[in-house]
Amino acid sequence: MTSIPDITLNNGQTIPQFGFGVFQIEPQDTVAAVSTALEAGYRHIDTAEMYGNEAEVGEAIAKSGLERGEVFVTSKLSNDSHEPDEARQAFEGTLKALGTEYVDLFLIHWPLPARYGGDIAATWRTLEEFYREGRARSIGVSNFQPHHLRRLHGETQIIPAVNQIEVHPYLTQDDVRAFCAEHQITVEAWSPLGKGGVLGAPVIRSISERTGKTPAQVVLRWHIQRGDIVFPKSVTPDRIRENIGIFGFELSATDIADITVLNRNERTGPDPDKFDGR
Ligand SMILES: NC(=O)c1ccc[n+]([C@@H]2O[C@H](COP(=O)([O-])OP(=O)(O)OC[C@H]3O[C@@H](n4cnc5c(N)ncnc54)[C@H](OP(=O)(O)O)[C@@H]3O)[C@@H](O)[C@H]2O)c1
Repeated sequence: MTSIPDITLNNGQTIPQFGFGVFQIEPQDTVAAVSTALEAGYRHIDTAEMYGNEAEVGEAIAKSGLERGEVFVTSKLSNDSHEPDEARQAFEGTLKALGTEYVDLFLIHWPLPARYGGDIAATWRTLEEFYREGRARSIGVSNFQPHHLRRLHGETQIIPAVNQIEVHPYLTQDDVRAFCAEHQITVEAWSPLGKGGVLGAPVIRSISERTGKTPAQVVLRWHIQRGDIVFPKSVTPDRIRENIGIFGFELSATDIADITVLNRNERTGPDPDKFDGR
């Protein structure tokens, strides 16, 4: 297997462009799934307090025999903890659950415009504390639209290292991606397979047949060549191994364009401008 590329974030830290997502993996299944991923060569795990499986992610990493520094770990602030004191408590809880002294990346999970008076800058300044303390090696946001990012820019000091947003062939998010590129914010594409819903598209099937790669591998490769970071989720060992097998082939520029035009601005998750986090 050709190795997974690193991406350098706007603060100089590096992050593997490919990882493993653990949303909707039940706690009792998480140690097995993360262990399978680490054995297959994944070195980047994306979790969140709200996924309820941080402790099991930490347990799998501890059991793997890998050094802490060999695995890039992201977690996210719970929607119930945006108020600064609550955010500090939540962050302590995340470190404790993961059994680590630092996370590689810590994100505001959702902007939540209708809660906390919409004061995302106050929450962000709390993440800036974690960054200055060295307990979050990088900090970023998730589900932020350009207007949320502009607000941080006006009221806070550190530019988010990443914006983790829903991206897949049915939701290409080219406007948010262009804004992020202009401001040196790296995009992470969540639900990169559209939760599996994009895999039957005829264009993807036909590229899959021509290249001999599976539909999931074709879609993940499309993300990688567009420059986004991805972390597909699976509880199925064969799929966990299949999904990492995307570093020994290339899609043509025509393939990339043919997949990109599948966009229909169709979300699988909530609209960040409307979601109140509950
Ligand atoms: N920041 C946010 O708000 C946010 C929101 C959602 C997700 N995320 C992150 O993004 C990660 C990935 O997103 P996601 O879990 O929503 O969706 P996803 O990775 O796009 O899709 C996962 C689904 O696809 C199936 N699948 C995986 N590999 C496959 C393959 N090779 N062939 C066929 N089906 C396959 C999985 O089934 P099985 O598991 O049954 O194999 C599962 O049903 C999450 O785990 C989480 O870390 C972040």
